[in-house]
Amino acid sequence: MYTSVLSALGLAATGIYACQRDWESLHMRIHKHKNHLHAKRSAVEYPPVLTETESILVNSFDSKSIDSWSYYYTHGDHLGGHNRTMAEWTMEHWNDAGFNTTIEEYWIWYTAPIETSLKLNRPDGSIHEVSLIEDMLEEDPTTSYPNRIPAYHAMSASGTVKSEYVYVGRGQRADFQVLKDAGINLEGKIALSMYGGIYRGTKVKNAQDNGMAGCVLFTDPLDDGEITEANGYLPYPRGPARNPSMIQRGSVRFSSLYSGDPSTVGYASEKDGPRNDVTPYNPSIPSVPISMKDAIPLLQALDGNGVSSQEANRSGWHGAFGNVSYSSGPTPGAILDMHHLMNNTVAPTWDVIGVINGTHPEEGVLVIGNHRDAWVIGGAADPNSGSAIMIELARAFGKLVKGGWRPRRTVILGSWDAEEFGLQGSTEWVESHLPWLITNAIAYLNIDVAVSGPRTALSGAGEIQTIAIDMMKKVLFPSTWGTGPTLYDMWYNTTEGEIPPLGSGSDYAAFYHNGISAIDVGSDGGKTDPVYHYHGHYDSYAWMAKYGDPGFQVHTAMGQWLTLIAYHIADDVIIPWDLPNAAKVLRTHFEDLEETLKDTYAEAPLDLSPIDDSLKVFEDAAERITTIASQALAFNDTVLINVVNSKYRDFSRGFASVGGLPGRPTFKNVISAPGLDNGYGADVFPAVQDSLSAGNETQAIEWVEKSASAIMRAAEILKI
Ligand SMILES: *[C@@H]1O[C@H](CO)[C@@H](O)[C@H](O)[C@H]1NC(C)=O
Ligand SMILES: *[C@@H]1O[C@H](CO)[C@@H](O)[C@H](O)[C@H]1NC(C)=O
Ligand SMILES: *[C@@H]1O[C@H](CO)[C@@H](O)[C@H](O)[C@H]1NC(C)=O
Ligand SMILES: *[C@@H]1O[C@H](CO)[C@@H](O)[C@H](O)[C@H]1NC(C)=O
Ligand SMILES: *[C@@H]1O[C@H](CO)[C@@H](O)[C@H](O)[C@H]1NC(C)=O
Ligand SMILES: *[C@@H]1O[C@H](CO)[C@@H](O)[C@H](O)[C@H]1NC(C)=O
Ligand SMILES: *[C@@H]1O[C@H](CO)[C@@H](O)[C@H](O)[C@H]1NC(C)=O
Ligand SMILES: *[C@@H]1O[C@H](CO)[C@@H](O)[C@H](O)[C@H]1NC(C)=O
Ligand SMILES: *[C@@H]1O[C@H](CO)[C@@H](O)[C@H](O)[C@H]1NC(C)=O
Ligand SMILES: [Zn+2]
Repeated sequence: MYTSVLSALGLAATGIYACQRDWESLHMRIHKHKNHLHAKRSAVEYPPVLTETESILVNSFDSKSIDSWSYYYTHGDHLGGHNRTMAEWTMEHWNDAGFNTTIEEYWIWYTAPIETSLKLNRPDGSIHEVSLIEDMLEEDPTTSYPNRIPAYHAMSASGTVKSEYVYVGRGQRADFQVLKDAGINLEGKIALSMYGGIYRGTKVKNAQDNGMAGCVLFTDPLDDGEITEANGYLPYPRGPARNPSMIQRGSVRFSSLYSGDPSTVGYASEKDGPRNDVTPYNPSIPSVPISMKDAIPLLQALDGNGVSSQEANRSGWHGAFGNVSYSSGPTPGAILDMHHLMNNTVAPTWDVIGVINGTHPEEGVLVIGNHRDAWVIGGAADPNSGSAIMIELARAFGKLVKGGWRPRRTVILGSWDAEEFGLQGSTEWVESHLPWLITNAIAYLNIDVAVSGPRTALSGAGEIQTIAIDMMKKVLFPSTWGTGPTLYDMWYNTTEGEIPPLGSGSDYAAFYHNGISAIDVGSDGGKTDPVYHYHGHYDSYAWMAKYGDPGFQVHTAMGQWLTLIAYHIADDVIIPWDLPNAAKVLRTHFEDLEETLKDTYAEAPLDLSPIDDSLKVFEDAAERITTIASQALAFNDTVLINVVNSKYRDFSRGFASVGGLPGRPTFKNVISAPGLDNGYGADVFPAVQDSLSAGNETQAIEWVEKSASAIMRAAEILKI
């Protein structure tokens, strides 16, 4: 009765993958949700009025310093576990700023490439050898470093496969279904899939689930918006279009099943600690990423064979190369020869942890984090735009600390290692401090790709959204983009005021799924901005300085914004949460769920009233504590202030369900989680949706109850 059309339709899926922002995901953010919570554009006071402390923090930011921090981070190999010196440098800079900083080491399991080759043998006997590294460019010095990192997929299996291959569109389940319906035999063949639309590891998983023996993922100009060679733009380094030799690296782990080290799921990775079997968490078939340039001959060899793109009739199937037809193949005699050898290893990684102790340590801690490891020598956008900003943020707070100031609440900075393999650094840190974090954490603020273009992005918890938006109004947007006046205007124009829930695309995952309030901030390019070479060699300092953010002004604005948010959460007498907004966001997610189920399972409706009822209780509790908070403040009632702050700190713990979501014990948040067939977008009330798509109505009913009790728990904590 219940089928899996739900995920096939991609309903109620939206969101960003912080390390995974392409134009399409930016676009998805605005259009996928059925129920938009569109805040109206609000008035902005101009010029912004800042308090004295806010001014000190904002004026401390210097784009020239950020430029130099960016330069440092983007001129050495700093793949996960490769660069302890960079961790030490970060520690020294945070220490100099005034944070007490240490390094924490975790030994993690991962795979590293030993040797890879990929060849196309055409029916006429000719051979095309695929390049697994980008062209070196004189204008971009780090592209020719001798220790530059070849393109590969972290967590890929090893294997040697020589077989026919089939183009599978975006590699969603429904794409494979189209091919099977047309009688194409997929068994033992290699899948050739276009990047984009869904998370790359899900494409590999779908190929594997359909009996295929290997997977090749290519970049297509389809996701480059208007900035393509076909539209007359020159490719990087001569212009803003994509360099055709660029290759998108990335992890292919099954990200919707776990975060962190796959050999220690649910507990911290220690050098000689216990390890579990990793096979359920990673693909068993080899996969390799290739460039646009190398995709063309592979696609051309399939032209006219198998299912045509018109017959496939799937969105995102037909790409933007003018000279290929995007036929599925296979073509008799067109063979891919793939040889891929990976080394499984357990090696140390280094998180840098900086602390300013608060004057009211009992009120808890605010954690602000960014990962440091990059796929390439550069990493100027991903993640070191964020890392450069974190140094400047530390120095801004340091100005106050050196004058004897301490925030009310403790502030912790995290510079995580090995995010790119699968959020290892942040997840292992959370796992090793979990009981303490459960008691003390107020919130986690994540900044990953702080800048890959000028368009401001915000996702995450309803209670934090209002302070985050208010602080946008206090930050001037750089006039070099001709779009001022404030960050708020840029954000509103980009998003129409919509804020998606968190999935699992960056280091907030371990916090959020243990019931800690979290947001993710950053900025992307849109379809008319220079193309960002996501996870490729040209995500470099040279690209950033010339195309991404000349003058590092957007970096400055993003850093000022994050610093102001952090300052208010750490130091306001009452934690600046907007609980009625949190209730409104939950209600919107609930309406999304209702509508999705109505569309998909109209014949056997599920009774969702327990969630509806729990939301009413939450809404009342949210209104009431907001009233009490303002009275406590008005009367300076310190006892009541402490009570409100402790409830604000703790209530979101209620959303975490003991034992986790069905089939994924470390994803505990009942409100949202990465979609099982999407991998980077977030599904709302995921356990209910997943149970229905798996055809288990009993389990769906159970999860309606569990989701409702989670909301009740959160509401109970808020009650005074
Ligand atoms: C670590 O990174 C720094 C800064 O980018 C660089 O100078 C250094 O060579 C790197 N170390 C290694 C071992 O690659
Ligand atoms: C293609 O699919 C759409 C729905 O996705 C459908 O409306 C349309 O009729 C299909 N076209 C063909 C030619 O099958
Ligand atoms: C195919 O088109 C691309 C641009 O879309 C161009 O760069 C390439 O040279 C063309 N290849 C062939 C073999 O025609
Ligand atoms: C594989 O990894 C181990 C452990 O990290 C290392 O000692 C060994 O040199 C690696 N082998 C190759 C061929 O890279
Ligand atoms: C750093 O630690 C020292 C010694 O424990 C302490 O006195 C100092 O206040 C700490 N600094 C900050 C910013 O928390
Ligand atoms: C600072 O805070 C940390 C974390 O709460 C605590 O472990 C440490 O003892 C504190 N240090 C000082 C000097 O207060
Ligand atoms: C936002 O849109 C408004 C209305 O279209 C326009 O006046 C303003 O310049 C835009 N601002 C930004 C920052 O894009
Ligand atoms: C509120 O009360 C506390 C503790 O009595 C005091 O330190 C503080 O100055 C008061 N704040 C205001 C704004 O009156
Ligand atoms: C449905 O889920 C429950 C767990 O909630 C499980 O015990 C049961 O076996 C599942 N039924 C089917 C048909 O998979
Ligand atoms: Zn990243």
